[in-house]
Amino acid sequence: MSATATRLESLRAEAATCTRCELYEPATQTVFGEGPVRAWLMLVGEQPGDREDRAGEPFVGPAGRVLDEALERAGIARDEVYVTNAVKHFRFERDGKKRIHKTPAVGHVRACRPWLDGEIDAVDPAVIATLGAVAAKALLGADFRVTAERGRPRDWNGRQLVPTVHPSSILRGRPEQRDEALAAFVADLEVIAGLR
Ligand code: URA
Repeated sequence: MSATATRLESLRAEAATCTRCELYEPATQTVFGEGPVRAWLMLVGEQPGDREDRAGEPFVGPAGRVLDEALERAGIARDEVYVTNAVKHFRFERDGKKRIHKTPAVGHVRACRPWLDGEIDAVDPAVIATLGAVAAKALLGADFRVTAERGRPRDWNGRQLVPTVHPSSILRGRPEQRDEALAAFVADLEVIAGLR
């Protein structure tokens, strides 16, 4: 195993028992990032959803299916990308048997930051894409506005960072606007593909 792979594996093992914030208690498990240890591109989402919490893998639910389709249309293979989240436990509220997604608070993002920083250090991607506001604000600051800046690469600590929307925003939008929203997401991913 390479030194990088070993570093990622020990980070993953440490994160599995993380109690840095209270989200670990009701969640099933820590959902750490996945992908090649030296990926050129890292995608940073918000937090695992219901499916991801059960499976222990990022972006394997409905938002993951939108992401997979958009990546394919942009000419990026999912298995060449390291996919992770700003927060590694599912935050939810119970509604009977249902677990309803709740946006993580700044304190959750902050508590989880060492894991994300560790992943960035180890994978050392040339390009990072943030998916949605939580991930963008985590890396670019609380005042950052994704809608105004999406699809525009910027220098970030010696890497290229491209903010774009979260794939779940496409699912949440009006059905008649979905094709357009998906095409705009694909266009952002095409910009990212051009940085390869
Ligand atoms: N939404 C995210 O931000 N991350 C996931 O892993 C799944 C859904």
